[in-house]
Amino acid sequence: MKVEPLNKNHDRAAFDCGNEALNTYLQKTARQHAERNLSRTFVLTDADPSIIISYATLISCEVEPAEIPASWAERYPHRFPAARLARLATDSRFVRRGYGTHLLVDMLWRVAEAGRNVGFVGLFVDAKTDELADWYAAFGFVRLTQRPLTLFMPLETIAVAWKAE
Ligand SMILES: CC(C)(COP(=O)(O)OP(=O)(O)OC[C@H]1O[C@@H](n2cnc3c(N)ncnc32)[C@H](O)[C@@H]1OP(=O)(O)O)[C@@H](O)C(=O)NCCC(=O)NCCS
Repeated sequence: MKVEPLNKNHDRAAFDCGNEALNTYLQKTARQHAERNLSRTFVLTDADPSIIISYATLISCEVEPAEIPASWAERYPHRFPAARLARLATDSRFVRRGYGTHLLVDMLWRVAEAGRNVGFVGLFVDAKTDELADWYAAFGFVRLTQRPLTLFMPLETIAVAWKAE
């Protein structure tokens, strides 16, 4: 298995995760956004390097203290910078075989590495369903009480638990 930045040799047209918005983003927008430094999209491939098994997109964001639990908000009196896992999807042909997990862990390594060089407080993700929120929570993401489908992992946790060897 290999994770690398999306490039023009990857067959974007063949990717289908069952969610039209996620397919369209990969097919039409992801490369343009990467070229303009708005986001970074990574793909997981296996035996055939042109076949996209899963993809994930990381962006930066700004968050209001009111959007996170009070115990954390006390540390951050003003708007603060964070990273966001904006998209994660696996092609329907390959779901539930661990590929999404592999790519998510790779994203956590990349966020830990970025956090050594750029200041931001952690990683947010918006889960599509309650079950998927549980899946993210199993990796150490914490659900926000006021928005239970939004989860957060502080950089300290990422750096300790998910740093690349
Ligand atoms: C969510 C997603 C990225 C997971 O990718 P994956 O390659 O299947 O992930 P893994 O095989 O590593 O892990 C699967 C786990 O994710 C959860 N999961 C995967 N698909 C799920 C679904 N349709 N409904 C509920 N939970 C699901 C389960 O906890 C599952 O573990 P299990 O198979 O042991 O029960 C993939 O299902 C997907 O692309 N879904 C459609 C797009 C989407 O909704 N993306 C938004 C994610 S917030």
